[in-house]
Amino acid sequence: MKLLEDRILRDGVVLGDDVLKVDNFLNHQIDPVLMQELGNEFARYFAGKNITKVLTVETSGIVPAVFTGLALGVPVVFARKQKSLTMKDNLYSATVYSFTKDVTNEITISKQYLGKDDKVLIIDDFLANGQATNGLMEICKQAGAEIAGVGIVIEKSFQKGRKILEEQGMDVYSLARIQAFSEGTVQFVQE
Ligand code: G4P
Repeated sequence: MKLLEDRILRDGVVLGDDVLKVDNFLNHQIDPVLMQELGNEFARYFAGKNITKVLTVETSGIVPAVFTGLALGVPVVFARKQKSLTMKDNLYSATVYSFTKDVTNEITISKQYLGKDDKVLIIDDFLANGQATNGLMEICKQAGAEIAGVGIVIEKSFQKGRKILEEQGMDVYSLARIQAFSEGTVQFVQE
């Protein structure tokens, strides 16, 4: 998506060999106009799939997920990384290891908000090693929910996430696909 690629080139900062800092519009300060465009694009791509729910993981997945839910006219559910005071029982849960941060989180979703009649669109801000998405897929499996596809704002195509998800038959739609970081600049996959 050209609008997003241009914004990454303008405001993204490459850190080291494999991390892109986008705090200016996605991960800290948020550009709601851009986020709405992203949500509309996910909704356009996944239109006609009879999606009943958008699913993501807190924190940074929530904003693009909400704009996607708004465009599709369906509710958005986010998995929690920390147990809520009010959510103790009747939870689906999965373990997610982050290679980037070297931490393991247990993500949970209340059984009240996901079930076998749901057709789910998974949305996340970054796809790196695919572990967050895998955790959400595991939760959908527990709930008996069908997965319509996966929408990613920024995919780091040089990491293994897309391969892992495609091997499981997922339709992965990423709005920006990064081929490499070369001397501090971003190179996109030529499609
Ligand atoms: P994975 O889900 O694809 O396996 O990714 P990984 O565990 O490697 O990433 C862990 C966290 O780091 C995720 O955020 C992910 O969004 C973020 N991340 C991965 N690569 C980048 C990057 O190049 N730039 C930025 N800005 N973030 C990256 P998280 O822990 O869920 O954080 P948050 O959503 O709570 O903020």
